[in-house]
Amino acid sequence: MECRPRCSFCCFCCIFSTIYAFMFIFILALIIFWVAISPSSVKFHITNATLTQFNLITTNNTLYYNLKVNITVRNPNNNIIVYYRGITAIAWYKDNDFASITLTPFDQGHKNTTFLEAKFEGHSVIKLKAKQLGEYKQETSVGIYNDLAVDFDLRIRAKYGKVKSSRFNPPIVQCGRLRVPLVSNGKSTPPFSVTKCSTGYFFSDRDAGD
Ligand SMILES: *[C@@H]1O[C@H](CO)[C@@H](O)[C@H](O)[C@H]1NC(C)=O
Ligand SMILES: *[C@@H]1O[C@H](CO)[C@@H](O)[C@H](O)[C@H]1NC(C)=O
Ligand SMILES: *[C@@H]1O[C@H](CO)[C@@H](O)[C@H](O)[C@H]1NC(C)=O
Ligand SMILES: *[C@@H]1O[C@H](CO)[C@@H](O)[C@H](O)[C@H]1NC(C)=O
Repeated sequence: MECRPRCSFCCFCCIFSTIYAFMFIFILALIIFWVAISPSSVKFHITNATLTQFNLITTNNTLYYNLKVNITVRNPNNNIIVYYRGITAIAWYKDNDFASITLTPFDQGHKNTTFLEAKFEGHSVIKLKAKQLGEYKQETSVGIYNDLAVDFDLRIRAKYGKVKSSRFNPPIVQCGRLRVPLVSNGKSTPPFSVTKCSTGYFFSDRDAGD
């Protein structure tokens, strides 16, 4: 008689701790599954950048440019193949996109690194703000341009095991704040420092939910 309330309390306890234990194991299993399956983002780096022309004619706001960048793209996953179907590289200078080119599509196997090169050459009209124009002039006198950037607008398919996704656009890959010296005859230029690009969550569709 005396222990009854205690016992039912015990039972109550017992059932709930079992439920909690199961829930805990379930959540743990889910986390392990997610970690095991969830793909790491593809890693982009700008390994070198060469600027041989960067001449802004202020009378008509025309920028004459010649910029070459080397890029490494690494797929760190050992269970995913990436098919790059559309690759557009966009060059920026201080919030102005001044050039865009498309690169050749390629496939990328497990844990593979691909070396790309983007060559921007030509002229385009850009409108720098007064402050930015001042910075441009300052940078020209030093011979090193700051705030250059290259973005990659991608369209990919991904294959996990035997399952191949449809085409989607990952978040824009942003390789920002490149500091690139202008190569001029006979002068040695400081080395370019390798820059890691930000990718966001690579295997997600940036248009999803729009
Ligand atoms: C970057 O490119 C320039 C010009 O092609 C070259 O002289 C330099 O050695 C390269 N730097 C690296 C780290 O490869
Ligand atoms: C811009 O002006 C410069 C100097 O006057 C001229 O050489 C160049 O052809 C002009 N560019 C364009 C695209 O009109
Ligand atoms: C950059 O690309 C050029 C042309 O493909 C190549 O000759 C050079 O070795 C590359 N540099 C690096 C550091 O990968
Ligand atoms: C990935 O790289 C390895 C070694 O570098 C190479 O043998 C293999 O063919 C590559 N796979 C693909 C799909 O490019």
